[in-house]
Amino acid sequence: MKRIAIFASGTGTNAEAIIKHFKKSDIIKVALVVSNKADAEVVLKAETNNIKVELVKDKNQLEATEFIDFLSNEKIDFIVLAGFLLLIPAKLIEAFPNKIINIHPALLPKYGGKGMYGKHVHEAVIKNREAESGITIHYVNEHFDEGEIIFKTSCAIDKGETIELLQKKINALELEHYAKVIEKLLQK
Ligand code: GRF
Repeated sequence: MKRIAIFASGTGTNAEAIIKHFKKSDIIKVALVVSNKADAEVVLKAETNNIKVELVKDKNQLEATEFIDFLSNEKIDFIVLAGFLLLIPAKLIEAFPNKIINIHPALLPKYGGKGMYGKHVHEAVIKNREAESGITIHYVNEHFDEGEIIFKTSCAIDKGETIELLQKKINALELEHYAKVIEKLLQK
């Protein structure tokens, strides 16, 4: 059995889709949700689905030996970031080499980096009159949105596209693909 920890700070639509996707799997299990926001919707969603929740305060805690030992005691094999707003520190990356992935709501390397999250991304894409946007799933390194790309898929930007409509389209792509990509990676 491969055990996944999902790190998330927000609404948790991706986290919930991943939890549901693996609910009946005999080989992959979402064992833990880690969040830096106690009042985030994702925490409620995890609890509703009977997934253990671990709250963290800041980046320092993520690289503390206690936290890395905790993940090891929970037998975590793979870490999935789904809207997690803290930068992942080097020590945690070293403890999980090529075992931490992230999803970004645009076609990286464009529209990534610090401050490029949520509506800021879609706003910039529309402002620049891009013909398309999409999602990127990538390995995590010590810089925001810069690790090796695993999967990308795109959608067209319609005439008169709004931030809200684009966000919905992108979210639909995320919910369709993230769990499937995770499954493929873990079956390798
Ligand atoms: C998603 O758009 C994802 O691409 C980004 O953060 C957002 C999380 O949304 N990294 P949700 O909390 O899963 O609804």
